[in-house]
This record gives sequence, structure tokens and C-alpha cells, in this order.
Amino acid sequence: MPIVNRISAFHQEMTDWRRDLHRHPETAFEEFRTSDFVAEKLEQFGIEVHRGLAKTGVVGTLKAGTGNRAIGLRADMDALHITELNDFDHRSVNDGKMHACGHDGHTTMLLGAAKYLSEARDFDGTVHFIFQPAEENEAGGRVMVQDGLFELFPVEAVFGMHNMPGIETGKIAARVGPQMASADFFHLKVKGVGGHGAMPHLAADPVVVAAEVVGAWQSIVSRRADPIESAVISVTMIHGGDTTNVIPEHVELQGTARAFRPEMQVLIEESMRRIAEGICGAHGLVGEFTYERRYPPTINTADETGVAMAAAANVVGQDNVDPNVTPVMGSEDFGWMLMEKPGCYVFVGNGTGETGGCMVHNPNYDFNDEILPVGASYWAELVRTVLPAA
Ligand code: NI
Repeated sequence: MPIVNRISAFHQEMTDWRRDLHRHPETAFEEFRTSDFVAEKLEQFGIEVHRGLAKTGVVGTLKAGTGNRAIGLRADMDALHITELNDFDHRSVNDGKMHACGHDGHTTMLLGAAKYLSEARDFDGTVHFIFQPAEENEAGGRVMVQDGLFELFPVEAVFGMHNMPGIETGKIAARVGPQMASADFFHLKVKGVGGHGAMPHLAADPVVVAAEVVGAWQSIVSRRADPIESAVISVTMIHGGDTTNVIPEHVELQGTARAFRPEMQVLIEESMRRIAEGICGAHGLVGEFTYERRYPPTINTADETGVAMAAAANVVGQDNVDPNVTPVMGSEDFGWMLMEKPGCYVFVGNGTGETGGCMVHNPNYDFNDEILPVGASYWAELVRTVLPAA
């Protein structure tokens, strides 16, 4: 089955929604207009609407047939703190905010599927359309889970989707196992004793010690981690000192660590702490180390990925499905939902080159409206595949 015909018929309507959302980007937990937009559409489709989870989250519930099974489909609604450089008509009117990750498109595709399914009701069971806030940086998905998402809306599996520049339009890709990495943040304060730059023996220099820590941390991925596995430790900030002839009191380091397995996150955290505290202590200084697990890896389960790939093939054809996509070291808030429920997160090609190839989080990015029917049809077909009509 190609793109669902009925969905193609409202491609223009979806494009209008998408551009409206693009024009009015809102960031973490402030998606008030977006949340109203989503709730209003769902109500128009005759779908039961629940609001207030994670502040601006919206869940639409649609039942068909008599079956007791239920699944969740999730889209993200938030934008980024980026000043848009595009000059088309639908460019952002909110200064310093931009839909530079395509969440406007994700929201639209799920709304498109909701519209179709509310008309057709060609499945048996319950679909929960989950619109989450704050995917970027603030882990709105985790907040939704903590607020009782899966207690209030029990599902047997949950599915997610993200557009991906660099993958051709009309292609859908995923993989069993880790598809996106964890994202952890660390901070180290090296506490020394300040003094005259010419009299280091009267001070306890945190700069030299911090430099040693940065170098030593690089041995974790190269020497501690299994070389078959992927991991990243990047120190992205070093702050210390104000002038040329004074040894500062302290130096602060911050950065991010990425991995594909929770066990690797543990290894990284423990190794970083041991090295930081050990090196600081060896020099008679104190190191205060903190490590925050912000996002878990996004790990697709085998059965659900199989079903997702079958549904994708029904929409775009087997040749346009990649069931073994290369994982990405970036991270995804959907990982929190996959910690709770089995499921699958897919990439939908946003296009290459001039058309859709600009990478997300770039001030020139735009979601490719050509793929709206692809994503919406995939959602519809996934529902019909997982919850077949009796
Ligand atoms: Ni995104």
C-alpha cells in the first residue's frame, strides 16, 4: 500500500498546520499556543483530549472496535533557542526561537494520522496520541512518564518518529537495539588556592590539575571501554582565572558523555569520578565532581521494530526501508518512554542536498513538507498493523 490516499488528500491542510506551527515556535514547557492548537484539532476530530501532563503535554485517546489492546504514538512539540536565518513567509515570528529540529512537522504528522484514524477507525483497540513538551534539553518525556503517562494511559508499546536530513524523502529507517545515545552532563570544580603567578609554591594551582584531568579522562574511552562499543566524553567548557599574573582559586570543567548502553554510562561516571578525585587528591587539591544522567539511550525492542518496519514497507515499499540504520551519537528524550515500554523509534528521511538536507539545529533548517503524508501514513499503517481490525 502506498501513501494513504485519504491522507494525500489533506496534504495541503497539513502543510498549512505545519507552517503555522513553524511561524510560532515555543520552547520547553511554554508550548501554550502549540498545546492549544493540538488540543483544538484533536477535539475537532472527535478525539478525547487530556491536558496538563508535564504542564503543556496533550494526550488524545481514540478507540475503535471492541479490543482491549492499546498503543501510544508520540510526537514532540517544542522548538529551540535559535534565531532563524530563513526568509520564507513562514519564518519564526518569535525572536530567538525556531523550529530547527522539525518538531513542527512531527506534531503535524501525528495530527494528520489522528485525523485519518478518527475518520476511518479501521483498527481494533485504543490509540493514545502523545504530544510531549520539552524534548530539547529539558526531558519533557521523562516528566510525562513521572506524571503518570503510562498509568493514566496504559499501552503495550510506544512508538516515536524523527525526521532525518541526509536520508532521502520517502525512506524510513530504524534498527533493533540502541539507535540514539544517552546524553549525560558532568561538572568538575577543581578547588585550589590562588596566588601570585610568579610564586606557585605559595599557591595550589587548579589550572595544571584541571588540564591533567582533561587529558586523563580521554583514557576512559580508549582504555577502559570495550573497543567494540561506542562512547564519547567531550569536555566542552573550561572556566578559570581572570588575568595573566594570578593563579586562580578554582577551575570549572563541564561537558557531555554519550553511550549506547546503561552499563557504559555507569562505567563512564565511575571512571570519571575516580580519575577526577584521584588526580585532584594526588596534588593536594579537592575535586567536586557531579554527573547527571539527562537522557538514556533510545533502545528499540526487536518485536516492535519488526512490526514498525513491516508497516513502513507497506507505505513506502521494501526498497525504501532500512531496518539496520547506523546509530547516531545524538540523543532523544523518547528514550525515557522506551525505558518503560517496548517500542520503536524511526527516522523518516527529510531529504538530501538543497531539499531537506540541511541538518537539524541549523538556523537555515526547515522541515520538508513533502514528507508529511509519508509520516502520517506510516502512523496510520502502524496502527492498522499492530491493532488489526477484527
Ligand atoms: Ni528533534
